[in-house]
Amino acid sequence: MVNFVPLSQISTRLLNCNLQTLDIDDLFAVTEIHRDTFPESMLSLLGFEVVRRYYLWQFTGPHDVFSLGVFGDSGTLCGYCFGGIFRGALSGFLNANKYFLFWKVLTKPGIFLMPEFRRRFLPSFRLMRRERDTQFHLLQQETDQRKSFGILTIAIHPQFQGKGLGKLLMKRAENAAISQGFREMNLTVHPENTLAVEFYQKLGWEKVLDNSTAWSGRMTKNLVVENQRESSRAPS
Ligand SMILES: CC(C)(COP(=O)(O)OP(=O)(O)OC[C@H]1O[C@@H](n2cnc3c(N)ncnc32)[C@H](O)[C@@H]1OP(=O)(O)O)[C@@H](O)C(=O)NCCC(=O)NCCS
Repeated sequence: MVNFVPLSQISTRLLNCNLQTLDIDDLFAVTEIHRDTFPESMLSLLGFEVVRRYYLWQFTGPHDVFSLGVFGDSGTLCGYCFGGIFRGALSGFLNANKYFLFWKVLTKPGIFLMPEFRRRFLPSFRLMRRERDTQFHLLQQETDQRKSFGILTIAIHPQFQGKGLGKLLMKRAENAAISQGFREMNLTVHPENTLAVEFYQKLGWEKVLDNSTAWSGRMTKNLVVENQRESSRAPS
């Protein structure tokens, strides 16, 4: 039996923040935060409209999304987390926007040289080439993913980092996973994003070491073990 982490145990250093489920009305604010938080990402470099379409796909695609925002006292969005079960978070976005993206990439050919393009985007583009493979891949992915709740992205605006908001969002995502019966969570982070890796490790995430020589950025969190830790800490 897995229990909730009481949110009262998590302190933030931002007074009067509140958490709300995000919807399509928050698309512009989410896009702005993505661009300010990940200014060097491929999506950001391709421009506002590409980032907007990426998140639009996460809101409207065939996913079971947990999308939570943390708002400051003036109602400003300070950060967000997208988690859940995603069916083609990247490949579906590429497919739905292929002509637009093709045109955008042509206007910025330097993108082809970026390691992120080769690491994340190229495999998804290849997959799109044969629709049957894509369907098979998505089905396979779905079977694998049902076992584990994914964190697609978490971003706290630079102005609000280090105030406990990231931890708050991650704990809420964890509670959502637990309430849906998941025993495990997973995410992929850029292996060189050491600040984020340390943040996740501090929250009990572990690196998944596959057979390749270098760590690919996959991380996991065992919710059953976490629950045992939380229970042993709780006052009797
Ligand atoms: C990574 C990120 C989500 C963390 O959110 P945050 O609100 O700044 O972090 P918090 O203030 O909640 O910190 C939670 C804990 O992690 C620790 N932590 C946060 N950043 C850390 C870092 N760079 N190194 C070590 N520990 C760190 C804090 O010390 C804190 O520990 P405490 O509870 O004992 O005080 C945020 O900094 C961010 O958006 N970064 C840029 C985007 C990014 O890289 N996202 C992840 C990849 S998808």
